[in-house]
Amino acid sequence: WAENVSKVDGVLTVAGLGVDELAGEFGTPLYVLDEDDFRSRARAFRDAFPEADVYYAGKAFLCVAAARWIADEGLSLDVCTGGELAVALRAEFPPERIGLHGNNKSSAELRRALEAGVGRIIIDSFEEIDRLAALTAELGVTASVMVRVTAGVEAHTHEYISTSHEDQKFGFSIAGGDAFEAVRRLLAVPGIDFRGLHSHIGSQIFVTDGFEVAARRVLRLHAEIARELGVVGEEFDLGGGFGIAYTTQDDPLPPADLARGMLKIIDEECAALGIDVPHLSIEPGRAIAGPSTFTLYEVGTAKTVALDGGSSRRYVAVDGGMSDNIRPALYSADYSCTLASRDSDAGPALSRVVGKHCESGDIVVKDEYLPSDVGAGDLIAVPGTGAYCRSLASNYNHVPRPAVVAVREGEARLLLRREVEDDLLALDLG
Ligand code: LLP
Repeated sequence: WAENVSKVDGVLTVAGLGVDELAGEFGTPLYVLDEDDFRSRARAFRDAFPEADVYYAGKAFLCVAAARWIADEGLSLDVCTGGELAVALRAEFPPERIGLHGNNKSSAELRRALEAGVGRIIIDSFEEIDRLAALTAELGVTASVMVRVTAGVEAHTHEYISTSHEDQKFGFSIAGGDAFEAVRRLLAVPGIDFRGLHSHIGSQIFVTDGFEVAARRVLRLHAEIARELGVVGEEFDLGGGFGIAYTTQDDPLPPADLARGMLKIIDEECAALGIDVPHLSIEPGRAIAGPSTFTLYEVGTAKTVALDGGSSRRYVAVDGGMSDNIRPALYSADYSCTLASRDSDAGPALSRVVGKHCESGDIVVKDEYLPSDVGAGDLIAVPGTGAYCRSLASNYNHVPRPAVVAVREGEARLLLRREVEDDLLALDLG
């Protein structure tokens, strides 16, 4: 749960506002974001890595207000499409503090980034070097670039969010020699300024070994490039991927502990290689946005299903589901929840919170003991939905996407309004 969330007489409140009031004013499903929590996690990363640049990964959750908070807190911003860049520019985010990612950036996206003056572009393919060479020549500008490399480590997370084993689409392989070759080629392009190497091993990671192995391998390549190509990359990016708690089973590392571990390895490896420590940057997304938000749903129906062996399970259906949180269906992600609108004396019943979509995999919370009298009209809150929920939301079954409301010191502010059917019908030209 976010910092300012607590229960008062059975009603979940955030920064002094009860969820019953929020549901009444903004409707459900609703993403409820604790602004101070979001900001303080951003600051915690900045403070834990005082010498480094912290790029908030906007893919986790991005809107104009969030981009402004990130700028206010002194962080930089990682965007990975023209669309995310457009939000950053709308927020007047300082372009020199924006980094552009993407394994298949179009020439239009690269052009827009160069015209906006983004601080760095993270190159991910040989074609991109050619595209950038043509664009920088045409526009008469210099692009500061990093080269994304694949360190070949297993990140110990879900396959779909691991990005540093060899057989996946991101980056240039270190082991296969492409990473070295990419740097060699771009050094020959007059409009490209090589800033350093970038590695992102995956997401929702709890153990630091993967980061450490990746850091050592990337630093060895950094030293090899300096030795053989005569250029020293001034920067070094270790990506994001720091895990958060979705249930009580998860045990995330605080940013300060992460920093201690990572910085120690980097110092050791640089000393062993006899090189200066390059300027570090990191890209946390989930660990800043995730815990700040809970999703508020209203229960519509509940039914009890008999299980083999004589036990039973209650299916508690809410007014959203896989369209506002695809993560259980996509990654078998586990969430927890609570009855948010009242106290109950009823005994606990093994419950599965499900959505309203036409799929049996439309699960919000797989297993939770909820009071056995939870039913129509009750509000249920699911914590930890600030990252990769709104940003991955869809209109499946023509369900409009929920609003995002930020709460701070007793005031609620709508950041993203709820879609309405007319928004969806407006796209349909008949
Ligand atoms: N940097 C790069 C280059 C990335 O690709 C990502 C995430 C991040 C930073 C931020 O990672 P974070 O700190 O948020 O873990 N949809 C998936 C996560 C996909 C992550 C994609 N890249 C999920 O819901 O778990």
